[in-house]
Amino acid sequence: MSEKKIEIADAKGKLGVLLIGLGAVSTTFIAGVEAIKKGLGEAIGSLTQMGTVRLGKRTEKRIPRIADFVPLAGLDDLVFAAWDIFEDDAYAASINAGVLKTSLLEQVRGELEAIRPMKAVFHPRDVKRLHGTHLKEEKTKWDLAQKLVEDIQHFEKEKDIDRMVMIWCGSTEVYIRESEIHQSLEKLEAGLKSNDENIPSSMVYAYAALHLGIPFANGAPNLTVDVPAFTQLAELKRVPVCGKDFKTGQTLMKTILAPGLKARLLGLSGWFSTNILGNRDGEVLDDPDSFKTKEESKLSVLEHILQPDVYPDLYSNFYHKVRINYYPPRKDNKESWDNVDLFGWLGYPMQLKINFLCRDSILAAPLVLDLVLFLDLAKRAGMGGIQEWLSFYFKSPMTLPELYPEHDLSIQQMKLKNTLRYMRGEEQITHLGLDYYQ
Ligand SMILES: NC(=O)c1ccc[n+]([C@@H]2O[C@H](COP(=O)([O-])OP(=O)(O)OC[C@H]3O[C@@H](n4cnc5c(N)ncnc54)[C@H](O)[C@@H]3O)[C@@H](O)[C@H]2O)c1
Repeated sequence: MSEKKIEIADAKGKLGVLLIGLGAVSTTFIAGVEAIKKGLGEAIGSLTQMGTVRLGKRTEKRIPRIADFVPLAGLDDLVFAAWDIFEDDAYAASINAGVLKTSLLEQVRGELEAIRPMKAVFHPRDVKRLHGTHLKEEKTKWDLAQKLVEDIQHFEKEKDIDRMVMIWCGSTEVYIRESEIHQSLEKLEAGLKSNDENIPSSMVYAYAALHLGIPFANGAPNLTVDVPAFTQLAELKRVPVCGKDFKTGQTLMKTILAPGLKARLLGLSGWFSTNILGNRDGEVLDDPDSFKTKEESKLSVLEHILQPDVYPDLYSNFYHKVRINYYPPRKDNKESWDNVDLFGWLGYPMQLKINFLCRDSILAAPLVLDLVLFLDLAKRAGMGGIQEWLSFYFKSPMTLPELYPEHDLSIQQMKLKNTLRYMRGEEQITHLGLDYYQ
């Protein structure tokens, strides 16, 4: 051990998990945690539950589980609460989502039925394809934020909660650009009071969370906390924030493959990605304004990974297209196709085809669990503001404006594990390895 350890408060007491949106991802996450607690399944895909971290030299053979290395909350400490624009409890919502088998859901039915969503903050302009009825009715966004604060404080008291984390697992909101109202906390607060239409519902939730010092993660591509006003609030209150847009299926594959092609200096002339998806998320994304938010998020990764300005001969002219097609029969079982046109030695063309038959929420649920536990860890370690080390989980990682995001999955993983080493005062691993041979 060579560095100084960071003070991390103990993970004592209950950790409240505040979920915005009780749809496919949220219910698959909650039902999964309850099933795992009962020994009915394993937390496959979760770094906090199954991952390890190498410490010191390879010859030392110190490879603890992450859960034994940093003090994380246990699954038994998690207590769930949610908001949704529909009244269905978590059991009814998970049946509706159709991700997990009814036979499994029956075994955690009691726990799921106990989670009844609180009334949501929602404006039909935010998500055009949804028409919710379970809504708060306060007149201004400021009053709505105060109502959310009351919900949170009530939950905290009723369930005897020690700490909390909030995660946006709600639908993708329509595309908005960062504007003047998002530039400072003062402007944002004035906008909440004057009901400025550039403040979507997700920002009202985020304001309530950060105001109360509750860490916030954004699983969708909406701007939400990724504007200067929220960075300012997060720093002021020393609250960890991260986002945007869970990196699960097609984009996960893209950020694994593209760095490999670049490492071998293979050129790219085009990457065509298309999907069919039949769940409510697919229905929402069928609206062009919500799709635009998603499209921006999905398109940005190649540009950043391939660095056309640094490698103009290889990457300055590639054509990148992403489509999502709503196709109800497939429900949550998304199928994606990628056609990659690449070129090698002397410019000779080649093709690569990828066909991923995935399950959207099965891939997303372990990410929600990790984000809950890591954000809580970051808060107890006194790490406020943007948590770039959690980029690993996102398609559009949040960074300071002067930095470009790291999209390469292996760089993101290295950053995450080095952050854990840093927290525990362990040496950073550079993979230089020359010392073994000297
Ligand atoms: N692999 C994945 O599943 C994946 C990957 C990346 C991002 N996402 C994003 O995660 C989010 C959740 O995905 P999902 O499959 O669970 O979608 P879903 O449609 O099943 O669930 C979203 C829920 O949010 C609710 N909602 C919408 N606006 C709300 C508001 N203002 N307040 C409270 N509730 C609200 C909806 O009623 C719905 O129940 C989506 O934005 C999706 O794009 C999912």
